[in-house]
Amino acid sequence: MSQYTLEVNGEPRTVEADGEMPLLWVLRDVLEYTGTKYGCGIGMCGACTVHMNGEAIRSCATPISTAAGQKIVTIEGLGAHGLHAVQKAWIAEQAPQCGYCQSGQIMAAAALLAKTPHPTDAEIDDAMAGNICRCGTYFRIRKAIHRAARSGGAAGSDRAAGVDRAAQEMSA
Ligand code: FES
Ligand code: FES
Repeated sequence: MSQYTLEVNGEPRTVEADGEMPLLWVLRDVLEYTGTKYGCGIGMCGACTVHMNGEAIRSCATPISTAAGQKIVTIEGLGAHGLHAVQKAWIAEQAPQCGYCQSGQIMAAAALLAKTPHPTDAEIDDAMAGNICRCGTYFRIRKAIHRAARSGGAAGSDRAAGVDRAAQEMSA
């Protein structure tokens, strides 16, 4: 067991864990951020998607020793000021069915829009291909991503990016 410090949703957190423990378990079982879901545990379904330094990653396949010192954002921290544009679009399009995969879908979509503010259908399909939905909500997810793009979804990026933007504005 070792101590690891990482930033989660803008807060520094220190945990004691085996270095091989997946970030997913640290988030869910140690820090109680249970919005991030366990699906397959082998990096194949996307249910456990979170952001690490703004990139969508599989937290089930990321050991805590790799996440140490990094900026992690989970679904709980996605909106720096209320709901993120992607979350609003998800509600407007009623994207979820059972909902189990959806926090991972939203995190993947937010990462996509941060890099590609107005993605094409093909770009959406490509970026979201690793996020599996057993309920088959793919069509509504695609519509929700387009809706978020129209509403400026990239500008409503995650908490970490919001902090970075504020720092840039202050130093400008
Ligand atoms: S639980 Fe991580 S990819 Fe499936
Ligand atoms: S909404 Fe049920 S698995 Fe995606």
